[in-house]
Amino acid sequence: MSNEETVTITDNSTGKQVTLPLYKPTAGPKVIDIGSLYKELGYFTYDPGFMSTASCSSAITFLDGGKGVLQYRGYPIEQLAEQSSYLEVCYLLLNNRLPNSNELDQFTNTITRHTMLHEAMIRFYSGFRRDAHPMAIMVGCVGALSAFYHDHMDIHNEEHRMITAYRLVAKMPTIAALSYRHANGKPFVYPRNSLSYTENFLHMMFSMPTEEYVPDPLLAKALDLIMILHADHEQNASTSTVRLAGSSDANPFAAVASGIAALWGPAHGGANEAVIRMLIDINQSGKPLQAFVDRAKDKNDPFRLMGFGHRVYKNYDPRAKLVREVCHKLLKDMEATGEQQKLLETAMALEKVALEDDYFVERNLYPNVDFYSGIIFLAMGIPMNMFTVIFAMARTIGWITQWIEMMSDSELKIGRPRQLYNGAIDLDYVPIDKR
Ligand code: SDX
Repeated sequence: MSNEETVTITDNSTGKQVTLPLYKPTAGPKVIDIGSLYKELGYFTYDPGFMSTASCSSAITFLDGGKGVLQYRGYPIEQLAEQSSYLEVCYLLLNNRLPNSNELDQFTNTITRHTMLHEAMIRFYSGFRRDAHPMAIMVGCVGALSAFYHDHMDIHNEEHRMITAYRLVAKMPTIAALSYRHANGKPFVYPRNSLSYTENFLHMMFSMPTEEYVPDPLLAKALDLIMILHADHEQNASTSTVRLAGSSDANPFAAVASGIAALWGPAHGGANEAVIRMLIDINQSGKPLQAFVDRAKDKNDPFRLMGFGHRVYKNYDPRAKLVREVCHKLLKDMEATGEQQKLLETAMALEKVALEDDYFVERNLYPNVDFYSGIIFLAMGIPMNMFTVIFAMARTIGWITQWIEMMSDSELKIGRPRQLYNGAIDLDYVPIDKR
């Protein structure tokens, strides 16, 4: 990393000064390299939640939270949403350039031919209870992939890393759909090579052996777009988890499984399921929307408006705008009625009420990508407990691309943060008969 600029920190208690390199990125804030701070000043920095901390350098995804900008490898999300496909975005993220038509065909063919699971893995599912949450199953199965490939991959071999990326992107829909089939007592459906990536997922989810199933192109297209929007998102909690797990040279399947576990939380990827549960509660409560907005503002009430707020976006999440449009179009094209339409109407009314409330405006709490995506999944006939599974399916390319970038970084060190210790110190052990 080159730097022409520096910053100087003065310890006012001793007058000691330390000069630190200041790095200029291609876009976004400059960063202070504090690597030598502890050695020079004897202090750690303190930043719970990493509000002001860049954990790595990366060339994959750029966010500008103030302007609501999201770019994958320099391409604005709005253009990719409009003109690209999920597999083309996977190629772009992995290879740092858009493919030509032959390259895309070859990549699509490679992914298509890695969608099957080892038959032994399919037997894992019969060990899970019918009511097991599909995210619990996905964490277990993705971690267990390393039992099938661990001996056939050298994490320091570029080619091995790429085949692992292909395997993960290809197998996630199969693993996800199998969770749904198991939970609903339906027979496992094998992938079909004649179908597109999202058509194949819908086929594995909803087809029945008793009749021909033709995936709805509207739903397949909407799902493809949703997956583009969820593909990567800089150093979010789950991606940071994948990087930290991978920094110990753990295998990528274990690292991605740790990312799936982190994504499950309702403060992160679990929010899409939590949004729908919140909207259903609102509709069933018969109470005015303002009552829920007031609860979200009440510090004594743990209730938050799920799908609102974001650590980075202090403007409208650009993905939320795009998901909102897809939501409207899909429900209109499908002539959706009943609960889905009511949920959308409640979501839009809640958005209006919240965005006119000073509490939300002052804190820059806008709808994020999770606010509308659940309504689309419901319209597709996908049950709520599968929403975060789909988020994980889409984000797999981001996780594995970030892992590959980290493993290719000559500066890679095992991630090992320090702490501000405020516990007891230097106590003497008291024998039990004296306590
Ligand atoms: C994702 O990081 C990523 O990029 C994530 C993601 C990705 O693609 O990987 O974008 C996906 O996780 C989107 C976020 C989904 N989560 C939710 O929708 C859950 C609801 N939102 C929050 O819990 C919250 O907004 C977070 C977790 C998203 C962000 O939390 P921060 O940045 O730590 O902000 P904070 O909790 O410190 O909140 C700042 C203030 C607080 O009030 P004050 O202490 O200033 O008085 O805003 C309030 C919070 O109480 N606040 C909310 C709120 N979110 C924040 N108040 C009511 N409802 C909310 N949703």
